[in-house]
Amino acid sequence: MDISQYRKMFTEKSAEIFDIANAFEILHAEKLEGEVIFHVTDEKTSLLKKAGDMVVRENNGQTEIDIYTGGEKERDRWRKTGGRIASWMKSHCPESAALDCGPANRRELLVGLFLGAYEFSKYKEAKKEVSGPLSVVMDKADFDEVKIICDAQNMAREWAHEPASVINPWTLSDRARSFAMVYGLECTVIDDEQLKKMGAGAIVAVGQGSRTPSRMIILQYPGTKSGKPVVLVGKAITFDSGGLSLKTTQGMPTMKYDKSGAMAVLGILRAAAMLKLETPVTGVICAAENMPDGGAYRPDDIIRSLSGKTIEIRSTDAEGRLVLADGLTYAQQNLDPRCIIDYATLTGACVVALGGTRAGCICTDDAMFSGLFASGEKTQERIWRLPSDEDYFNALKSPDADLKNSSGGREAGACVAGMFLKTFINEGMPWAHLDIAGTAYNMDGSAYFVPGSTGFGVRLTIDWLKSLQ
Ligand code: BES
Ligand code: ZN
Ligand code: ZN
Repeated sequence: MDISQYRKMFTEKSAEIFDIANAFEILHAEKLEGEVIFHVTDEKTSLLKKAGDMVVRENNGQTEIDIYTGGEKERDRWRKTGGRIASWMKSHCPESAALDCGPANRRELLVGLFLGAYEFSKYKEAKKEVSGPLSVVMDKADFDEVKIICDAQNMAREWAHEPASVINPWTLSDRARSFAMVYGLECTVIDDEQLKKMGAGAIVAVGQGSRTPSRMIILQYPGTKSGKPVVLVGKAITFDSGGLSLKTTQGMPTMKYDKSGAMAVLGILRAAAMLKLETPVTGVICAAENMPDGGAYRPDDIIRSLSGKTIEIRSTDAEGRLVLADGLTYAQQNLDPRCIIDYATLTGACVVALGGTRAGCICTDDAMFSGLFASGEKTQERIWRLPSDEDYFNALKSPDADLKNSSGGREAGACVAGMFLKTFINEGMPWAHLDIAGTAYNMDGSAYFVPGSTGFGVRLTIDWLKSLQ
C-alpha cells in the first residue's frame, strides 16, 4: 500500500491529514528512500514486549514499522511513542512517512512528536538534512491546538539554550519587545536606572556586577474576557556564576539555563495569545546576570528591596530569590493579580529532594494547588507540594536586617528559599512558587526530550489556565 492509499484509508469524516514537515532535521544524514508507515499498537506480542519496541518490515521500497506503546500511564505512553517515532525520523530521514494509529490519544502522540523532534542545532555548522513530511490524520482543532502549545514550549527551550554571550538582560528585553509585537502583547521594560529610582534594590544589586545590568520586563496578554490577570513571574538569571560567592568549576556549567523560569513564562504567554484564552495573563520577567566584578554586590551587604524590607546578603549565589522578591512586589503593587505563579530554577536543594521527576511547589491556596497538581499529572509536568511552616523562616533571621537571603546551612534549602519568597506575598494572595531547578533541563535526555532544556511549565500552565475558563 502506498501513502496515498494510506491517506484514503485513514481519513475519517471528522478528521483531516496534516503533514509535519521540516521538523525532523538531522546532521549528516543519508536520506532513506521510499516511504514509511508507522503502525502504532497497544497490543503486546512476542516481538513487541516493552514500550517503544519496534518491528521493521521492508517490502518493495516501503518500510512498515509496528511500534508498541506499552507503559502504564495512559497519556504519557502515547507521548513516549511519539518521541520514539520522532527520534527514528531524525536518524533515518525518510522521504515521506505516515502514522497509522487508533483515534484515541492522537493529541498526546503529537505532543511526543513535536517535543521529540526539537533539537537546539543553530550553532552546528554541519550540513543538515531534513526528512520528508510525516502525515498524521486527526481532528483539525486538536492538531492546531497541540501545535501552538508545543511550538511555544519549543521556543522556550530554544531561548533557554542560548548562551549568556547571546542572551543577557538587555538582549532579552530587545527580544521580548519584538516577541510582544508578534503576539500582540503590551510590553514594558524597566531598566536598572528606573529600577533604582523605584527602590527595587534587590534586583538592582544582583545585576550590578555585570556589564549588562538588570531589567524587569512586563508583558501583558489582555485575554478575551476582562478580569484580573493571572500574573506569572519568571526568574531570568541569564548566567549564574554565583557572583562573589563564586560557584565551583563543576557547579557553573549549565547556569545559562538559570533563565528557564522566565523562558517558560514567555512560552506560556505565546500559547495563551495564540489560543486566545479568556483569562488575562501578565508576565513579569526578572532579568539579571549574576557576575563578580569591582561593582558587584557582596556578602554582608544590606540592600533595600522594593517592598521596603531590608535584606542582608549571606550568599551572592542566592540571587534568584532576590530578583523574584522585587518582581513579586512589583506585581502586587502594580498589576492587581488574581493570583501569582512564579517559575524559578531556584535551589540545588530541590534537585537533591525531587530530581528531574517533579518540580517543588509552595502554595498559599489549596484550591490553586490542587488545580496545578491535576494539570501536572495530566501533562506529565508534575509537581509536589513542599511545606511552608513559619518555622522555616527562623533560618532567615538576621541580626542587622529584616531578613537574610540564605541560612548558610543546607537543611531544607528548597523550603527555606520558598519561605523567603513568601515573605513578599501579601496576606490572602493566592500564590504558587514552582522550583524547577531539577525539571527545567535534563542532561541525559528522556523519551521525548533530547538532552538540554525541557521547557517545563508551559504545558502544565496552559492546561491549568484553560481549566479556569
Ligand atoms: N541557580 C541556582 C540553583 C540551581 C542549582 C539550579 C543547580 C539548577 C541546578 C541558585 O541561584 C543557587 O545558586 N542557589 C543556591 C542557594 C544557596 C546559596 C542558599 C544553591 O542551591 O546552592
Ligand atoms: Zn545562584
Ligand atoms: Zn540562580
